[in-house]
Formats: sequence, C-alpha cells, structure tokens
Amino acid sequence: MIAAVTMELSQAWDRHAGTYVRLGSPFTGYIGQSLFHTVAGRLPPAARMLEVACGNGELARAAVLHCFAERAATGCTGSVLATDFSPEMVARTSSNLNGLNAHDIVRCEVHDGQALALESGSFDAVFSAFGIFLFPDRHAGWREAARVLKPGGWLATAVWRGPEHNALMRVQMAPVLAALPDRIRAALPSPGWLDIASSDGLERELVSCGFSEVEVSEFDAVFTAPTPRQMWESMCENPVSRNLLASCTVTELKAVEASVLEHLTSLSGGPDRALRLDGSCHFAVARRA
Ligand SMILES: C[S@@+](CC[C@H](N)C(=O)[O-])C[C@H]1O[C@@H](n2cnc3c(N)ncnc32)[C@H](O)[C@@H]1O
Repeated sequence: MIAAVTMELSQAWDRHAGTYVRLGSPFTGYIGQSLFHTVAGRLPPAARMLEVACGNGELARAAVLHCFAERAATGCTGSVLATDFSPEMVARTSSNLNGLNAHDIVRCEVHDGQALALESGSFDAVFSAFGIFLFPDRHAGWREAARVLKPGGWLATAVWRGPEHNALMRVQMAPVLAALPDRIRAALPSPGWLDIASSDGLERELVSCGFSEVEVSEFDAVFTAPTPRQMWESMCENPVSRNLLASCTVTELKAVEASVLEHLTSLSGGPDRALRLDGSCHFAVARRA
C-alpha cells in the first residue's frame, strides 16, 4: 500500500521506467548482481530474501539463480520477494523474471520501502541497490529493512559515491550547475544522499538505524549511453535529476541543454558516439543488530 504523499513520485518512476530499463538497468543491473554475490555465500540455507526498490529486477534475478543452484545441490530452496513502489517497475521485474520459470520461488509486489506492509523479523536478507539511499525519508527505509529482518539477518545495499570520486555524477551535474541561472543555483538544497556518500557517513547512518558489523567497500563500473542526446533526455525524465531542471523557464532550459550536450559531446567525441562514464559506488553489508 502506497501512502498518498509518495504517489506522485511513484508515478514519475512509472513514466521513467522504459528509459531506465533501456539505459540504466544494464549498468546498475551488473552492479546489483555483484552486490548480491558479496553476500550470497553468507546466506543461511533456504534464505528468505527481500529486494527493496527493485527497478527492473536484475538483483532479484541473481537471487533466483542462487535459489535454483541451492535446490539442485541440496533439494531445498529459499524465496525472493522483489518490491518497488512503482507498479510499472514491478511489472517490468515480473516480465524480466518470467522466463526463469521460478514462480514457486519469486514474487513481485508493489511496496513503499519507507513503510513495508510486511511482517517483522520475516527475512534473512534485504537488498537495495540505489533504492533506499534516495528515498525522501531514507532513515525510514533503513529502519523498515531492519524491522523485517530476523536478528542477525543481512542487509546489502549500494549507494553512489560523491562527485569528487564519481565521474558519472560529476559529468552530469557540472554542466547543469554551470548553466543554471543564479536564482535557481542559489536555492538548490544539497542532495540529502551526500551525507552517506562517504563510507564513514554510510556506516554511521546504518548503525543509527539498527544495523551492526557494517562493512563498506568500493565498487566501480562503466556506464554507457548510446549518444549524448539520449543521456540528456534521460536526465530530463529521471525523477531525481529532473528536479534540478524543474524551475527553469523554456529559455533557461535550452541554455542548460546546450551546456550539457556540449560537455557530453566533447567527452564522447561526437554527437553520434557512445558516451562512457566511470561510476563509483559503495557496497555496504551489515547485520541487523
Ligand atoms: C535508481 S532506481 C534503482 C533500481 C534498481 N534497484 C537498480 O539498481 O537498477 C531507483 C528505484 O527506486 C524505486 N523507489 C524510489 N522510491 C521508492 C520507495 N519509496 N519505495 C520503493 N521503491 C522506491 C524507483 O521506483 C526505482 O525503481
């Protein structure tokens, strides 16, 4: 059940789902699957696993394959619940996983990760790649993850590093900030997730929300956009970056577009050339205290 205040945001993700699945998922999916494998070997037999903010369900796919391997090896198997507050994302996860023929292992459901309609202490592991970290009430997201975990259960999450360590963020944001009019730039709040872009900040926040034994590691991957223009169009549609652009007039937006396209095209080597950007994130693995 989605609270009314988050409905608008969930609809924005619904509208972005097609672009996200095409452009973002091949990249974040690789990262999400790698995140899953950082804890796969520590899971108990027949683990009950939850994914929060699953997007296209790439991490859930790795979890289902883990269940298949366990069943082949031992005869028993765990289960996977893939959730997102965007019904369109949940539908895409469902169709992504359909071909695995794992209907007895995986379910896909709409849930607001800030208020999960799930029983306390009912999961062995909770995963969230680039999900909880961007919730408006991020602390509620971590606390909900802790609540639904059994004591000692595992949290594994992926969080972007800040622009100084992360070209993917820097290259998108620098030309936007350079071209935004002063009145908008001066009023921009600092993005809340920057508090947890450092490993110390991330560890502190997880401990304050009910986790212990936090391990943070760095993980890098290369994002590819087919052309600079497709990257710009995705930035305009993405519910996170579009907020930056929302108060521009048509003329101001044209100036930002020109700034971004010039910068991205200089990096790709031409308007029809693919753009490759290094992304860097933190993986945090922790246990419910
Ligand atoms: C950047 S995408 C990450 C998707 C996927 N985990 C991945 O790594 O590709 C963020 C996802 O968080 C979901 N999301 C945002 N706020 C949410 C909330 N309050 N509850 C559940 N899902 C949410 C969005 O619908 C979107 O699918």
